Amino acid sequence: MKVFIIGAGPGDPKLLTLRAAELIAACPVVLYTGSLVPRAAIRMARPDAKVLDSSGMTLDEIIDIIKEAHRAEHDVARVHTGDPLIFGSTAEQMRRMDELAIPYEVIPGVSSFTAAAAALGKELTLPEVSQTVILTRAEGRTPMPEREKLVDLARHNATLALFLSITLLREVTQLLIPEYGEDCPVAVVHKVSWPDQRILTGTLGDITARVRQAGIKTQSIILIGRALNTKEFADSRLYAPDFSHGYRRARTTDHAE
Ligand SMILES: C[S@@+](CC[C@H](N)C(=O)[O-])C[C@H]1O[C@@H](n2cnc3c(N)ncnc32)[C@H](O)[C@@H]1O
Repeated sequence: MKVFIIGAGPGDPKLLTLRAAELIAACPVVLYTGSLVPRAAIRMARPDAKVLDSSGMTLDEIIDIIKEAHRAEHDVARVHTGDPLIFGSTAEQMRRMDELAIPYEVIPGVSSFTAAAAALGKELTLPEVSQTVILTRAEGRTPMPEREKLVDLARHNATLALFLSITLLREVTQLLIPEYGEDCPVAVVHKVSWPDQRILTGTLGDITARVRQAGIKTQSIILIGRALNTKEFADSRLYAPDFSHGYRRARTTDHAE
């Protein structure tokens, strides 16, 4: 018996990994976070599978279901949105399973922040613009560690991917404008890969009004940074003719024939 902690990707079942789909189809118990994982992503579950939505459960209730499956020697597909190890609240489940000696394995998934970048068609790491992506959240009811306040992270001017922060967008923009500038590009991607996906783009100066006007209050990734709309970046060294690496020798420009 094993608990498979599965990343279901951002919503579109076609973004499930083959391994995820195979396990969801095989496990007699499917416990999924129904607040963010659509039913379509688990539709391949066996007709006789026990399919449960954990969105209204406490950690104890989730662990009780896992314990019961363990006793019955039933594998569990524990299905989370995106990648299970990014803002997944999976560490606490794994800690409990460690204490109970219940075996588990993690199956990675497509995180909503990479799906959002894909929907925009934007590379988040541009040479000489930003080579760093910070995955974080705004401080709301859950406090941030003292050294990870958004104002401190902003000093890097790196590309930011904010989870769980759409209702705090105004505060976020106010904190970031001094470092990134009012004209810094922002994209809000709501329900990425779902049929009702919406993309709003703007700047730190105007995105709050745009999002408010669109009535978006849930399930969004906020991407911020100059990498989102500049065409002024250097070509990477990887494909430069004068650059050697393990798979290609540098070519000299003046060919003596
Ligand atoms: C509990 S976290 C889970 C993150 C997830 N593990 C991941 O890797 O994407 C929930 C937050 O992820 C983001 N999110 C998850 N699914 C999303 C989607 N389909 N579209 C946009 N944002 C999404 C939102 O910021 C949401 O508030």
